[in-house]
Amino acid sequence: MTLSETRPGRGADLDAELGAIDLAALPRAFAWGTATSAYQIEGAVAEDGRAPSIWDTFSHTPGAVAGGHTGDTACDHYHRWREDIALMGELGTNAYRMSVAWPRVVPGGDGPANAKGLAFYDRLVDGLLAAGITPSVTLYHWDLPQALQDRGGWPERATAEHFAAYAGIVAARLGDRVTQWATLNEPLCSAWIGHLEGRMAPGWTDLTAAVRASYHLLLGHGLATQAVRAAAPGAQIGIVNNLSTIEPATDGEADRAAARRMDGHVNRWWLDPVHGRGFPADMREVYAVDLPERPGDLATIAAPLDWTGLNYYFPQTVTADPAGPAPYARQIERPGVPRTGMDWEVDAGGLETLLMRLTEEYGARRIHVTENGSSYEDTVAADGSVHDPDRARYLTGHLAACARAARRGAPLAGYYAWSLLDNFEWAYGYDKRFGLVRVDYATQRRTVKTSGRRYAEVIAAHRAL
Ligand code: NOJ
Repeated sequence: MTLSETRPGRGADLDAELGAIDLAALPRAFAWGTATSAYQIEGAVAEDGRAPSIWDTFSHTPGAVAGGHTGDTACDHYHRWREDIALMGELGTNAYRMSVAWPRVVPGGDGPANAKGLAFYDRLVDGLLAAGITPSVTLYHWDLPQALQDRGGWPERATAEHFAAYAGIVAARLGDRVTQWATLNEPLCSAWIGHLEGRMAPGWTDLTAAVRASYHLLLGHGLATQAVRAAAPGAQIGIVNNLSTIEPATDGEADRAAARRMDGHVNRWWLDPVHGRGFPADMREVYAVDLPERPGDLATIAAPLDWTGLNYYFPQTVTADPAGPAPYARQIERPGVPRTGMDWEVDAGGLETLLMRLTEEYGARRIHVTENGSSYEDTVAADGSVHDPDRARYLTGHLAACARAARRGAPLAGYYAWSLLDNFEWAYGYDKRFGLVRVDYATQRRTVKTSGRRYAEVIAAHRAL
């Protein structure tokens, strides 16, 4: 039976788009998910004992976030989580990637756990399971307790140790029901954008601090892996990296070397150490900053992963930029390439390439696409319905790329669309919308968009195979 036979009256274009996804290449037990993170959706920043994180501080710093937006209320998910679980059901998803807010659970960063903070995640996990939705829990999605920042933050080794202690507390509480855990989300953003480029919390522009932060983030990943395994035997642990395909702008040696450096900065610096290859020697030279290494650290960082998470958004074409900052390479704009509302190039093929790279070059045993999605302006019709054909097309195009990689042997086990809801897009505030569900921030009303309905159709078609 073809898709058009199952759903009469649909446009031929839509059928062609869905037909282009080789759904049979995806495993039967596929995790069809959506993803969010705590600070971007929860709000309730001062409730039930939560203490400030570096993102509360950063977003309240004048000029740091577009429009002066903050996560104070966000999507009010802290109070509306039941409605949000119902939306996941409407989309037909069976998985959900969420993060736990460290400043809710251990408000001081280290020290005692906050019972009310843990109780919130308890309720949420129970609610998800009751709805037939498997939670995948990320322990750190950028919201470092401000108390630890005040003691030096990620450039300090102690932060990695405190992270492991917090991870153990969460795993001890939720590990009887949660199997899939990720330690860090996109440590490249925490280290490079937060400490080198200054566009994210804590807003520093200091190469030495950035390199030290990168080291302690990865050490924290390794230590947290041990803590979660000790607290929750059977836990399946991964790390979530945002990777890009990198091409030189020209064939000249300077641009090719720049592309290698950017690949080191964005991809290899994060992948090599956790796969037992150590920190890439070429990049150590580029940064020229001593790593705060201690014996045994590399083995801790390289604890075998149960799965690996890939966040993919865009490819990069780069040229040499000797004026810096590291890695002395910068992205150029290619004319004529379609772009999203973030100005990011659209290239679904890059997702296939990266899935194959994780499979062939790094021997990934199980891969989840832990984020993929796009920001575009929605059209809200007079009847309140929300139309976002560009986002829908981005989604199906990238799902087709996932299926191609799976057909070629990538051990792909799940896909989590970013995002369930429009939410706080960090330094861009609320004007950049990534949701499959629109949020009207004045009323907190949620409306499933065309893209959300499209996703539901793909999932249903896969189930019907
Ligand atoms: C990756 C980050 O993990 C997420 O928090 C962010 O909103 C999306 N990319 C979109 O930029």
